[in-house]
Amino acid sequence: MPIPSDSLPLPPDPHSYAGTGPARVRHLSLALVVDFATRTLAGAATWHLAQPGAAETLVLDARDLAIDAVALGPAAAGPALAFDLGPADDVLGQALRIALPPGAAAVTVRYRTAPGAAALQWLAPGQTAGTEPFLFTQSQAILARTWLPCQDSPGIRFTYDATVQVPPHLLALMSAENPQRLEPSGTYRFRMAQPIPAYLMALAVGDLAFAPLSPRTGIYAEPATLPMATYEFADLEKMVAAAEQLYGPYRWERYDLLVLPPSFPFGGMENPRLTFVTPTILAGDRSLTSLVAHELAHSWSGNLVTNATWNDFWLNEGFTVYFERRIMEQLYGRPYADMLQVLGRAALAHTIAEIGTASPDTHLRLHLAGRDPDDGLTEIAYEKGCALLLALEARVGRPRLDAFIKEYFARFSFRAMDTDAFLSYLRAELLAATPGLEAELQLAGWVDGPGLPASAVPVASARFAAVDGALARFAAGAAPGGLAPATAGWSSHEWVHFLNALPPALGAAGLAALDEAFRFTASGNAEILAAWFPHALRAGYGAADAALEKFLHRVGRRKFILPLYRALLATPGGPARARRIYAAARPNYHAVATSTLDPLLAGAA
Ligand code: BES
Ligand code: ZN
Repeated sequence: MPIPSDSLPLPPDPHSYAGTGPARVRHLSLALVVDFATRTLAGAATWHLAQPGAAETLVLDARDLAIDAVALGPAAAGPALAFDLGPADDVLGQALRIALPPGAAAVTVRYRTAPGAAALQWLAPGQTAGTEPFLFTQSQAILARTWLPCQDSPGIRFTYDATVQVPPHLLALMSAENPQRLEPSGTYRFRMAQPIPAYLMALAVGDLAFAPLSPRTGIYAEPATLPMATYEFADLEKMVAAAEQLYGPYRWERYDLLVLPPSFPFGGMENPRLTFVTPTILAGDRSLTSLVAHELAHSWSGNLVTNATWNDFWLNEGFTVYFERRIMEQLYGRPYADMLQVLGRAALAHTIAEIGTASPDTHLRLHLAGRDPDDGLTEIAYEKGCALLLALEARVGRPRLDAFIKEYFARFSFRAMDTDAFLSYLRAELLAATPGLEAELQLAGWVDGPGLPASAVPVASARFAAVDGALARFAAGAAPGGLAPATAGWSSHEWVHFLNALPPALGAAGLAALDEAFRFTASGNAEILAAWFPHALRAGYGAADAALEKFLHRVGRRKFILPLYRALLATPGGPARARRIYAAARPNYHAVATSTLDPLLAGAA
């Protein structure tokens, strides 16, 4: 299947200085030295232009980068080119403007990153499972520019090759063709042959080992974590096969996972060929693998067909959540996938209540110009986006929706898509055939309206109905121990539903009885802990304090720690305690997490 080299006209991206003009990059040759002592990356980025001679200026995004020199051509030794850095914006960084002589086909930027570069987390050995330091990047949404001068707009794609020099004994990995074992010289070469946007640029360096799962899938993890990870993700090949069966061929050749240290700020990140995942999904019972299905699904929705700007984020995440649950249904059945839908719908209701229906941030189409995209990228894109696809599915039927989605991925592979272009395509390919369908669906209300439109279809779970039965018996006075037979065989999802539905005012004695029966405080399951601790905090159930503190020190996943700090702040004496814990734990958090938590905890008295 050919990869298109042309591109559709793009809407302007309010979060990049690169602009929509003719000065576009097409290929990157990157040479980097990773220095753990100074916590810097230093090297050269050679950008090959899509249309040599088409423009007089090349504009790249840069944030907190030291630009040492710019040269004409593919080598740092080429003739020097004039450049300037525009004023620094806290969120967007700076425009790096490079004067292009007539016919220029490539430029080479020599640069260094700052020790505090927001995309990078430099971990000391004590923050890993082993005895070596660790580095990883997180580029989405607009942080690639803090470690690479680039056109940091999701609508602009490029292929790349890279040479990365790391200390001996450490393995380097990228969102590219990857090594499977240590290179004694410490020099690694990478190639990404499919064009990707800058937010999918990724690098990780650490004491990492590889274990194959199938000819095209495998796991990278710290040696101490690898056995557990290979057990947890044993169904990875089945997931890829199910995804292909649903929506067409996997276009990236290999699919590997990298299990990061627990400070990784997200659950997962869909870096092409190498999904990054948090170790907090290593539950020991394979019960949290829908997150892997999610990141895998991005290999189509997001990495093949890419949101043109962050205002179109729902095109990435909404399709991915729908696709994720189809993969899970294929592997584990409808009752399993229904649990995920119900949890997702509950999270959506929670988010809408939190943001407020009056806020345009509950629309699928966002308006993020002038803001940090990180502030506006919420659960809405994920769950309201998925709910729209479920509403469509209910009306046109799965066979037609599946054919539509498959064709959409095939037709727009390696291209950017914005909300208007998607709506036109949807109307032409699916809605036009059924008069009245668009109105019945209330399409405009989904895209540019608040909350959840009335055309949304309800979701229900038979497995959760059983949990609700146990909850009702508990509310009627049954002892927790008496519920035990009913709870045997519950997955993480049932437990999370149980904990979320517990009466909020059980009191410390009530929680102690539950804890005695079900050992929540001692759970090794991060989802269960994250649902349990807020109860403990509200009730002043001190027996969970030590476990909560340990969790906040070890885990940097924002989805968990942000609500826990909020719950902590709401307790008597909580602000002082929250600030004390945060002061000690903060060095273990990535900038993505501290940038959200700093303002929250700065005000804590
Ligand atoms: N691409 C996202 C992560 C992301 C989004 C990073 C926006 C930066 C800005 C990834 O695919 C994702 O959605 N991760 C979720 C897990 C998923 C199962 C909902 C997460 O990290 O919690
Ligand atoms: Zn996602």
